[in-house]
Amino acid sequence: IASQAAEKRGWHLYLVGGAVRDLLLAEAQTGTLMINDIDLVVDGFHQAADVGAGVELAKALQQIYQNARLEIHGAFQTAALLWHKDPELDSLWVDIATSRTEFYPYPAANPEVEASSIRQDLYRRDFTINAMALRLTSPRSGELLDFFGGLLDLQAKQIRILHANSFIEDPTRIYRGVRFAVRFGFQIEQRTEEYIRYAINSGVYDRTSQENTKTPALQTRLKAELKNILAATYWQSALQLLDQLGALRCIHHSLKLDGEVLRQLRLLEIYLRKFGQQHNLHDWQMRLEVLIANLEPKYQVKVAKNLQLADDIIARFKKLSETQTEIITSLPNCILPSQSVHLLRKYDWTTLILIALKSPRKIRRKIRYFLTTLANIQPLLNGNDLKTMGYKPSPLFKIILDHLLTATVDGVIKNRIEAEEFLR
Ligand code: CTP
Repeated sequence: IASQAAEKRGWHLYLVGGAVRDLLLAEAQTGTLMINDIDLVVDGFHQAADVGAGVELAKALQQIYQNARLEIHGAFQTAALLWHKDPELDSLWVDIATSRTEFYPYPAANPEVEASSIRQDLYRRDFTINAMALRLTSPRSGELLDFFGGLLDLQAKQIRILHANSFIEDPTRIYRGVRFAVRFGFQIEQRTEEYIRYAINSGVYDRTSQENTKTPALQTRLKAELKNILAATYWQSALQLLDQLGALRCIHHSLKLDGEVLRQLRLLEIYLRKFGQQHNLHDWQMRLEVLIANLEPKYQVKVAKNLQLADDIIARFKKLSETQTEIITSLPNCILPSQSVHLLRKYDWTTLILIALKSPRKIRRKIRYFLTTLANIQPLLNGNDLKTMGYKPSPLFKIILDHLLTATVDGVIKNRIEAEEFLR
């Protein structure tokens, strides 16, 4: 229907980017294919007025598919149609762009847009395997447009960029290259790797990690790519490859994935399996926080701010080092379980996990015992029980209940009868 709408207006329509790559990969590997992100490009017009062709086509499609939501991104002449097919199923995104060339007035800036042909549109893309198009309009519909050897690279299992400046123009492509390499089991082609190292050595990330960056859009994309990597099943291999390439600099120039950080990240997996769901901990965010927590304390808040992490995370890093010192000095002196409870219950779970990961085994065990057992113990009586027993509601209730909790945690009282006895 989209191609008919384009043909009616005398335009060409192409499927481009990841969907073409995934179609070709699925064909080669006879794998199952689930595409929920479709990129279309409209091309083949000569009038300046047609620069909004993508938007016009999206509007025409929305007339037909009224259950789709339409979003228009004016500055880039693109539109998106979004289907929530079924709340249980994945949604479908269709992005429709007007064929364009992006030129970069200075490195790491947002692309500016001007209309141009499909070849130029493909040339501005990140890797050859992502720079193929499938023509959807007649004549020659179904034809693969592969100007840069994408198909050969797919067969050779390699990630190759199209031009030398690609990583300087868009440093997030380094992360994308690593993600595709690890996800598909491909190699980063030798010249491409040299360009990655060149871009990193030329300081492309140092520009992005300045606190008052002029390119917030870049930070947003960088964070999105980091999230993609850290949320994936292959996060560990991807982090290792990023480290080998020196690309962890984008988080901070001093960040290294040494044995200690890897040990903590692996240990974190156990905590995530145990507490992740119950405490709504996001795997990717926790992995990122472990990386940040291993930087020198003086850098942690700055890095969290640079990555535009949420305010509660920034607040956590403001206190992390002080909290760690307090726990490491005080927890060994906690002999009774209730003493551990009084010390540790002041902190949120992420803080406690981050500190457990970094602590010697004895401290880690005590934190773990708190998280798995002590934190779940409730006082055997509540405020209503106290009222029934004849106590008048007052601020004293809190103190009484706290005493009850202490006695329960330490095993002094084991049931309600003993609790009532304890109060008398
Ligand atoms: N693209 C690019 N440079 C970027 C981001 C995207 O050139 N920094 C181009 C690529 O051609 C890519 C397309 O935009 O194929 C769509 O991007 P996106 O949806 O982010 O990625 P996909 O390639 O579709 O990969 P995925 O399957 O991971 O979504």
